[in-house]
Amino acid sequence: MNDQQKQLIFEQAKQWILEAGERIRAKMHEPFVIETKSTPDDLVTEIDQNTEQFFAKKIRETYPDHRVLGEEGFGDDLKDLNGIVWIVDPIDGTMNFVHQKQNFAISVGIYKDGIGEIGFIYDVMGDVLYQSKRGEGAYKNDHKLSPLSSDIVLEKSIVGLNAFWATENPRVDKVGMQELIRKVRGTRSYGSAALEFAYVVEGNMDAYVTMRLAPWDVAAGIVLLNEVGGITTKADGTEVNMLTTNSIIASNRAIHREIIDKHIELK
Ligand code: IPD
Ligand code: CA
Ligand code: CA
Repeated sequence: MNDQQKQLIFEQAKQWILEAGERIRAKMHEPFVIETKSTPDDLVTEIDQNTEQFFAKKIRETYPDHRVLGEEGFGDDLKDLNGIVWIVDPIDGTMNFVHQKQNFAISVGIYKDGIGEIGFIYDVMGDVLYQSKRGEGAYKNDHKLSPLSSDIVLEKSIVGLNAFWATENPRVDKVGMQELIRKVRGTRSYGSAALEFAYVVEGNMDAYVTMRLAPWDVAAGIVLLNEVGGITTKADGTEVNMLTTNSIIASNRAIHREIIDKHIELK
């Protein structure tokens, strides 16, 4: 992918994302069917499905050699990340979409041979588009975001964290999480991994910690966060695998190691 191809793909993806957002806003007040997937709290609607189909169709028609990794099953069954792969979450934060009609996002990461080249997170109701190309910075709409401050300490940080991980759970020791909650200035939980990444990217939060995310939850966020000097790893500090679920810490580098070493004990 040379710079010119990358720019064309970027512009095309952006146009589809804005169009998909428009379609969601137009349909969301009509009655829609809500189903559950793996658990009673794992929701999906026909709007999630239609939106993913919209992307899969456009991508296949326009770029027949690109592949799609999507949450709702309209993409390809990927065993590797060779070539260009669009990693799409049509609605991240479906529970918010259903219950709140806000605080959800379209997330699209475009990877070449496993390297994140383009990332978009679109806050559909806020009409805010976080956008980035590798090596060219991260933007909130047209405003270029500043590199994250290196001058922060955990005690003065805001950390995105779902309260579930501070209760008895199968993935992480709750005591370390409870101590983290007590140590930091504040915690937040927005219910959309993509938006929580975006808030770390713009410096509204200093870290986001969670124990189980799919590739489509993080693909765009990783590209964006790299562009402001942040870091994303698994919760033990090792590299994220974009073909499986991962525990995740997406963070300002100044506090990344301390959270892992002092507060995360994986089971
Ligand atoms: C979910 C949201 C949520 C996170 C879950 C994700 P979905 O995505 O990002 O914040 O805690 O793990 O599955 O299902 O709404 O696309
Ligand atoms: Ca998601
Ligand atoms: Ca989703």
